Amino acid sequence: MELIISPSVLSCDFANIQRDVEMINQSKADWFHIDIMDGVFVPNISFGFPVLEAIKKHAQKPLDVHLMIENPDRYIESFKNCGADLLTVHYESCTHLSRTIQVIKNLGMKAGVALNPHTPVDLLIDIIEEIDLVLIMSVNPGFGGQKFINNAILKVEQAKNLIHRRGSKAIVEVDGGVNLITGKQLVDAGADALVAGSFVFNSDSPKQTIADLKQLRM
Ligand code: DX5
Ligand code: ZN
Repeated sequence: MELIISPSVLSCDFANIQRDVEMINQSKADWFHIDIMDGVFVPNISFGFPVLEAIKKHAQKPLDVHLMIENPDRYIESFKNCGADLLTVHYESCTHLSRTIQVIKNLGMKAGVALNPHTPVDLLIDIIEEIDLVLIMSVNPGFGGQKFINNAILKVEQAKNLIHRRGSKAIVEVDGGVNLITGKQLVDAGADALVAGSFVFNSDSPKQTIADLKQLRM
């Protein structure tokens, strides 16, 4: 399978959001990574439904929506209505994770589960067959541009092992501090999808940077 690249819109220029969405459309990116933060689950607030709808209007690739919010069950249907294709909730924010996953899937979206840096991969053992994606956080969620946490590489290997052992079809995505160096290490460990925000949008040519990331596994 080709490596999936999901540029994080959090690092785009919000005064020129349509321009940046078009850049991603024309690039080798596979998905749009959309970070939703509520200021409670994480110490930052990003953006909500009106911005998501505006992105959806122009995006020509699937929306990979990463919910960093408390009690996500309240909003699953709203995210579907705003155009989410893949909806990822945090393990740490769901009391009835299995039910949450079923609701996401019954609405016709793919379901992902994100793990904070301190959350062990093994906690997914009883749910791994139900989910489409495991999102390994390689920074503490809340902000773009943070330093990569090396332990994420080991967690990618652990997640791939677990998936293999249980015969799950889930893929492994990594989010936070991804660049060409950390990206290569993650790909070697078995990552299927990489999120990249500041590395893409702070580069001289975001489109070329996306192509460079995509090349990490051909
Ligand atoms: C962090 C977000 C990330 C963020 C990544 O909480 O989940 O998606 O945008 O940004 P970089 O790639 O700059 O670490
Ligand atoms: Zn994210």
